[in-house]
Amino acid sequence: VLARLASNPQEPSLGDEDFRFFAALIGRLSGISLTEKKRDLIAYRLKPQVDRLGLGSFAEYRQLLETAAPNDPALQTFINLLTTNKTDFFREPRHFEILAERVLPDLVRTRERARRVSVWCAASSTGEEAYSLAMVLRRNLPASFELDILASDIDTDVLAHARNGVYPAARAAEIPETYHGEYLRFGRDRASGWFKIADHLHQAIRFERHNLVASDAPARQPFDIIFCRNILIYFTPETVQEVARKMHRLLRDDGFLFIGHSESLGTGQELFRPMKSSVFAKIGKA
Ligand SMILES: C[S@@+](CC[C@H](N)C(=O)[O-])C[C@H]1O[C@@H](n2cnc3c(N)ncnc32)[C@H](O)[C@@H]1O
Repeated sequence: VLARLASNPQEPSLGDEDFRFFAALIGRLSGISLTEKKRDLIAYRLKPQVDRLGLGSFAEYRQLLETAAPNDPALQTFINLLTTNKTDFFREPRHFEILAERVLPDLVRTRERARRVSVWCAASSTGEEAYSLAMVLRRNLPASFELDILASDIDTDVLAHARNGVYPAARAAEIPETYHGEYLRFGRDRASGWFKIADHLHQAIRFERHNLVASDAPARQPFDIIFCRNILIYFTPETVQEVARKMHRLLRDDGFLFIGHSESLGTGQELFRPMKSSVFAKIGKA
């Protein structure tokens, strides 16, 4: 530790009491479990906020949060600072193939009368996953089908970015070229170096804050498909089980759940029938 401090005297350090408080608070507010190994990460993420607020120490920031009312914006800022938002367009591409080849053909048949497919992207971060879903769904469903996609996240900063739907042009390389002409609009002049998602695709998506570990449910459910990827890894096994129950409750009886390739539903798996790795069909009522 001394050697590390000597090489980087600016490194913020977090005392035991502060670390325990911040870890417990983020656990209570979001379900995110930050263990001792993440002590430095917490310090790095929170230090700029301590400085912005003109506070002298982490202890002062702790006191501010300790006395915050439940709806105090300071708590939302704290959550935004501690979430990890890494995402890509078409991340884990096999899922989008399974969606197009296995899931959607069935839905086209079974939803022939309703002509509507409802999808929840349950930890959508900056929006790439929801827009990837929208592209695959729009391309593979008949034009007469209405598409209703909910993109939600607990972090209000990433939701604002997602709602905006503007990305650096270089990120288009993550999107198969076959989608570019129809769904991406590349900027010119002052907007060059950026693309935005085409309005007709953007309109299919609602963006809402939703906390997966809260007891409330999003409006307009149940869903035919839920993507809940690369978030379960941050939760304890008990929280994963709770979230699996929630997903089960909010899916239609013939609906599908996608989780990240490196994730598991733990004991929550009993509620689903594995279809492909990390893709599950709901076991509905008999
Ligand atoms: C690593 S990103 C994954 C994004 C995307 N699903 C993907 O696979 O690329 C995890 C996201 O989960 C969000 N998150 C963390 N806790 C949450 C909670 N309790 N409810 C809803 N979203 C949460 C974070 O804000 C973050 O944007």
